[in-house]
Amino acid sequence: MNEVKTNNYLMNINGEWVGDSLSTLNVTNPANSDIIGTVPNGGEKEASQAISAAHEAYQSWSELTAYERAGYLKKLNQLMLDNLEEVAQVMTLEMGKPINESRGEVKYAASFIEWFAEEGKRIYGETIPSHATNKRLQVWKKPVGVVAAITPWNFPAAMLTRKMGPALAAGCTVVMKPSSESPLTAVKIMELCEQAGFPKGVINLVTGSSSKIAKAIMDNDKVRKITFTGSTEVGKILIRQSADQVKRLSLELGGHAPLIVLDDANVDLAVKGVMASKFRNAGQTCICANRIYVQAGVYDEFVEKFAQQVEKLKVGNGADDSVDIGPLINQAGLDKVKHHMDDAVKKGAHVVTGGKPITDDGGVFHTPTVVKDVDQSMVIMQEETFGPVAPIQKIASEEDAVKLANDTPYGLAAYVFTDNVAKGHRVIEQLNFGIVGWNDGAPSAAQVPFGGMKESGIGREGGHEGIDAFVESQYVSIGME
Ligand code: SIN
Repeated sequence: MNEVKTNNYLMNINGEWVGDSLSTLNVTNPANSDIIGTVPNGGEKEASQAISAAHEAYQSWSELTAYERAGYLKKLNQLMLDNLEEVAQVMTLEMGKPINESRGEVKYAASFIEWFAEEGKRIYGETIPSHATNKRLQVWKKPVGVVAAITPWNFPAAMLTRKMGPALAAGCTVVMKPSSESPLTAVKIMELCEQAGFPKGVINLVTGSSSKIAKAIMDNDKVRKITFTGSTEVGKILIRQSADQVKRLSLELGGHAPLIVLDDANVDLAVKGVMASKFRNAGQTCICANRIYVQAGVYDEFVEKFAQQVEKLKVGNGADDSVDIGPLINQAGLDKVKHHMDDAVKKGAHVVTGGKPITDDGGVFHTPTVVKDVDQSMVIMQEETFGPVAPIQKIASEEDAVKLANDTPYGLAAYVFTDNVAKGHRVIEQLNFGIVGWNDGAPSAAQVPFGGMKESGIGREGGHEGIDAFVESQYVSIGME
């Protein structure tokens, strides 16, 4: 592993690195509990300063042409690719993701900046046929204003760029608040923003207390939009808190993805798909397969072939290039996985492979696990596990698959494996999920809309919808003689 500078990192407000006089928060490597750096424990004061800086910078940034803004974003995209290794190493150190996945995430993160640099040039208004000869009706598009981007620990680079990319391209200025579990990747990206030469105040980074910073954001009417990725529980709090000032919200919240394998599926392809979906980031993604429904005709074959692949996965410190499954983010994450496993086994599920927590040397790991004979009464089939555990339930029919899959308040991602085109259409048309992988376990990309139905969120990120979230329509009726 390359040497990574681990020191006291700072936050960035109005183009200045600040916060060295504040108390600090430790950032810990979940693979071994080593403290690998600190960030300032900022609060309401620092958040308010960042909001004022973003507000101050808004006018001139929003008046640039889309082409000028794209120039800055393209520089940032290139810098992210040029510094991919350094950012990836920091990411793995602070949140445990296997280094090859971290490298992939930095590329994925940069792709949002590239996509939105271009997409900013396509924020089209409208001319609407008029009902009167002396009127012209138009719709103009305006940036929403100052944006607060609150991001999670599991994708510390990509969730940031999926928010700041479209916000900046649309002409908004940004206050970023990364998770305190993995803020260092955000600091690295902020350093690259500085190198890209963004004018001061256009991008600000505040670290520290989530509740105090969120309060400052919510209380300040200069912030017009909150974009958040995190739990449904916190998302609901943000919805309530944003009501007073009717702040705009984009929320990417929890998931509980079903993965359906029907009798006419290509079983090898289904195994490949579930491996990609379930074990990415040790199962700590909002879209990873969380409940697997397999039709009786292919159940035994699927379980056997899947377990064979899972047994090949190597668990360990993500800094080791050959590791497939890194640690969970913290002890609470591991406790949740253990609780789901214990409950399932107590209620009659059978462990096919794995099933063990590993806490040697200060790390918090769980072996990649396949559990079969689960049913809907088990917590593992009701809640998001966020760990490397794949529970499999046998189902009788296509109708069962749809009914069980939809039996949840969540609606982020679902996966369907069938080679029957009519059946695939029929099933997917009935699924209430914002993202569906059909014979595909890895549907994410910068150019597509990512987001959930029901309690999985509001709005979409990525694609052209991702930039719509940062503009408002202004209807202009022009009277003429
Ligand atoms: C997430 O888990 O929230 C993000 C996953 C992705 O973008 O693919």
